[in-house]
Amino acid sequence: MDVNDLNPAPGAASRLWRGLGGLAFGGDYNPEQWPAETRAEDLRLMAEAKVNLVTVGVFAWARVEPVRDAYDFSYFEKVLDDLHAHGITADLATMTASPPPWLVHEHPEILPVTAEGAVLGPGGRQHFCPSSPVYRERAAMLAERLATHFRDHPALGLWHVGNEYGCHIAACYCEVSAAAFRRWLRERYDDVDALNDAWSTDFWSQRYASFDHVRPPALAPTFPNPAQQLDYMRFSDQELRACFEAEASVLRRVTPGVPVTTNFLGGLKSVDVFEWAPGLDVAAVDCYADPHDERPHLAPGLVYDTIRGSRGGEPWILMEQAPSAVNWRARNAVKQPGRMRLWSWQAVAHGADAVMFFQWRQSRGGAEKFHSGMVPHAGADSRVYREIAALGQELASVPGLLGTRVRNQVAILLDWNSWWALELDSHPSAGVRQAERLLDHYGPLHDLGVGVDVVPPSADLGAYALVVAPNLYLLSTEDAERLTSYVAGGGALVVSFFSGIVDQHDRVHLGGYPAPLREVLGVRVEEFCPAAEHETFAVRGCGALEGAEGVADLWREDLQLTGAEPEFVFDSADWAGRPAVTRHEFGAGVARYLSTRLDETGMRAVLGRAVAEAGVRPALQGLPAGVEAAVRSGDGGTFLILLNHTGDKHEVRLDGEWTDALDPADARVSTVALPPAGVAVLRAG
Ligand code: GLA
Repeated sequence: MDVNDLNPAPGAASRLWRGLGGLAFGGDYNPEQWPAETRAEDLRLMAEAKVNLVTVGVFAWARVEPVRDAYDFSYFEKVLDDLHAHGITADLATMTASPPPWLVHEHPEILPVTAEGAVLGPGGRQHFCPSSPVYRERAAMLAERLATHFRDHPALGLWHVGNEYGCHIAACYCEVSAAAFRRWLRERYDDVDALNDAWSTDFWSQRYASFDHVRPPALAPTFPNPAQQLDYMRFSDQELRACFEAEASVLRRVTPGVPVTTNFLGGLKSVDVFEWAPGLDVAAVDCYADPHDERPHLAPGLVYDTIRGSRGGEPWILMEQAPSAVNWRARNAVKQPGRMRLWSWQAVAHGADAVMFFQWRQSRGGAEKFHSGMVPHAGADSRVYREIAALGQELASVPGLLGTRVRNQVAILLDWNSWWALELDSHPSAGVRQAERLLDHYGPLHDLGVGVDVVPPSADLGAYALVVAPNLYLLSTEDAERLTSYVAGGGALVVSFFSGIVDQHDRVHLGGYPAPLREVLGVRVEEFCPAAEHETFAVRGCGALEGAEGVADLWREDLQLTGAEPEFVFDSADWAGRPAVTRHEFGAGVARYLSTRLDETGMRAVLGRAVAEAGVRPALQGLPAGVEAAVRSGDGGTFLILLNHTGDKHEVRLDGEWTDALDPADARVSTVALPPAGVAVLRAG
């Protein structure tokens, strides 16, 4: 592989967007599951629904290479011909997400092995070991043949490599992986004593005399070495990325102008999106809101803000969402009328230039036949299809949105290495889970009407008025210094408990927690005091937050103040008056510390004050609770998108001159009446 082939092609993504001419709309298209006659109806309905981009062939390896080397792309050539004839662009998959039966038959060693030592068989999908040279080679060969065959096809607009890497197989523990891990460690540490030092192997007699003696952290009698586990997560992520790169480099060589992407699974722990994203031409994510959630839009919003943050605010692709229900939760809720539209516009409000679904036509057989489709089992005469067609038509009516950007003043920091380390076993509390703790911060900011970029600690923080670091357990000294200088230079920082605790090898920063942030936060902690499962603690605001109330749980710390002032104190009998949340003026900026988990009321008070002090302005003042507003602006104009996440009607008064972008008459609007789950798209001027 030539390393130059790993770099995204400049301008490739713009060619895709220019070709589409407006927001993309479509989904996974799997015509191979259907008789040939169905395609005519598909194409007619796609035209009606204004579908302009479909993902083709994700699980088609066994069809295009039914036995070794017997490549036959004629079926998909016809599909792409038909799509092109209907003006639809293909996001053509490299078809490598599910190895075909012949490959497993000839090379059973490609099958993944669990930490418990079980071999995972074929019959599902993603049944390959990420380190398998055989899998990588056969996948790259298929990508090469495919790219060569379709390089000049006019429907080809985007390459879709693999599918949701790491979704089913985050890591493999077979002997091939073990050998690859040892090679990876040799490269990383060079000297086995450097590894011994990094892994603290004098603990429990784990000192290695040679790299040859190292094994993956498979099932062990008790907690396997945490630093070894952490390195195994890094290694496994990089092995998955190497699978992607093996294919992407072929595509870039054969079809240099065609953009390359892969669809991340939103909220997935095993794949470090921030490390992968620079190697794509455009970021794409799959996100499956759970309509049974109390606030089903929050977790997806966080996913969208992460994917946008992964490529510096560029437009991104919502590659998959469900038209209605999924089939893989224990209880699968449908999207009630209007919710699919609302949540699709939510993605656009968060910067998506493509709204796509899994999948076009609901399967008749196979493991996902009860997963909704854009064309359901009931056919086009159905609520789901009607809502889909209406959405497609609506999105097509606002081409000016294409390429406009969301700009936010607040960043939430997320670091995959810290996530991996935070959730290792043998910790003070098993309750500190990254995804939930992120939402503890994200939800109240959302309620305050403040848009957020989710970025890594290495991002350019100077671009933000407020930076929030939820439970950033692993923090390098350099990143801690960057946070410190950010505050010294006038920035506002909010840090939550169990942050800045360990270095990149999961070794504790000494001298009182959170050692590398003590100076900027003006606090010192000697011991963590995790709460029992249902234990809660009353807290109350003080100083500028006098009168504010809240309830805390999960975690407490006996904070020593070394410069900071309390903003919230505990109000429970045992800890009355001890600081819970602090504020520290440092240099030209302010740093807050939350030593406990506050409920939403408490969080809104603390973050509300941090937001106000930092001069952060919501997109629109005075919005009713549960109504979200976002602004996108760029060459196509300035757009205000209003989303009513509630089940009630609301009225929103606007300042300035706005026209209704969804109204063909371009009506001027000064007040917007939003029905339950309603959406409004307004253009400035
Ligand atoms: C994932 C996959 C799809 C499909 C959907 C179902 O996103 O990429 O192939 O399985 O889930 O929700």
